[in-house]
Amino acid sequence: MQATRRRILESLSEAPVSGPTLADELDVSRAAVWKHIEALREQGFEIDSREDGYVLLGTPEFGGASVEYGLDAPFGIEYHDSIGSTNDRARELAAAGESNVAVLADEQIGARGRLDREFSSPSGGIWISFVCRPDLPPAQAPIYTLAAAVATTEVLHDVGVDAGIKWPNDVLVDGEKLVGILTEMEGEADRVSWIVVGIGINANVDADAVPDTATTIRELIGDVDRAALTRALIERFEELRNAPESVLSAWRDTATTLGQRVRVETPGGDIVGEALDIEFPGTLVVATDDGEERVSAGDCEHLRPT
Ligand code: BTN
Repeated sequence: MQATRRRILESLSEAPVSGPTLADELDVSRAAVWKHIEALREQGFEIDSREDGYVLLGTPEFGGASVEYGLDAPFGIEYHDSIGSTNDRARELAAAGESNVAVLADEQIGARGRLDREFSSPSGGIWISFVCRPDLPPAQAPIYTLAAAVATTEVLHDVGVDAGIKWPNDVLVDGEKLVGILTEMEGEADRVSWIVVGIGINANVDADAVPDTATTIRELIGDVDRAALTRALIERFEELRNAPESVLSAWRDTATTLGQRVRVETPGGDIVGEALDIEFPGTLVVATDDGEERVSAGDCEHLRPT
């Protein structure tokens, strides 16, 4: 959001402020203040003009402006009512040299999941992709995916959804998928050029609009304030990506895989055993009949104990 508009909203969030006072505070003309107020109204901010000045009565339900309002993280928001895939758009931005942009959509019509699967993304969800340029060797990129899974799970807990992570990054509630995460990157041998982390949360969506194996926040607890949830997600993701050393312990606290019997499908064959631990940057340690195995990627299934 434009800096002047952000400052106007900050002023109005405290008390009614008159046009001349805003003009003084921001060092712009009264006509300019009026134009900014009109632009904010067009973005969905409900601003009343009263005798004692402008009053902020409401913020837009969802969109770039509502998420950016009060956001404490260095991400600009590029919002779309409808888009093919936020990851595709984020990749375009990354390839054009952009950084610290979050592409956000109400609906995706060509969303992609892992292994080139389709991912249903009806209107009402939170579909977001972060463009990041970390100073990281490519082998450590999985820590970004774990950070995204932890951030999402924690903010879901905060709104009362009892979600848990299934290694490496599916976020489930009672075995049903609530969130999918797709990380894509480009880099050279020793350094990542960019990482796009895409997160899809089935938020204010009817259960019959997602696959049978999935659930939605609406089904679990009713609708949530998507703008507030998205803001919290961005801020937590920002904290975790800046503190990679804290991600694993936070992952252990929010994951349900450790201690379970698992089957992990890998290109080299299935690995079956008890999931013991996770190691940097996201490697699962499994106790199999033949000893400990370390798995860095694969489809994981929780098995019933034998
Ligand atoms: C999976 O579970 O297979 C991963 C799904 C990832 C979906 C998200 S939604 C936002 C972003 N845009 C996409 O096209 N995919 C990711």
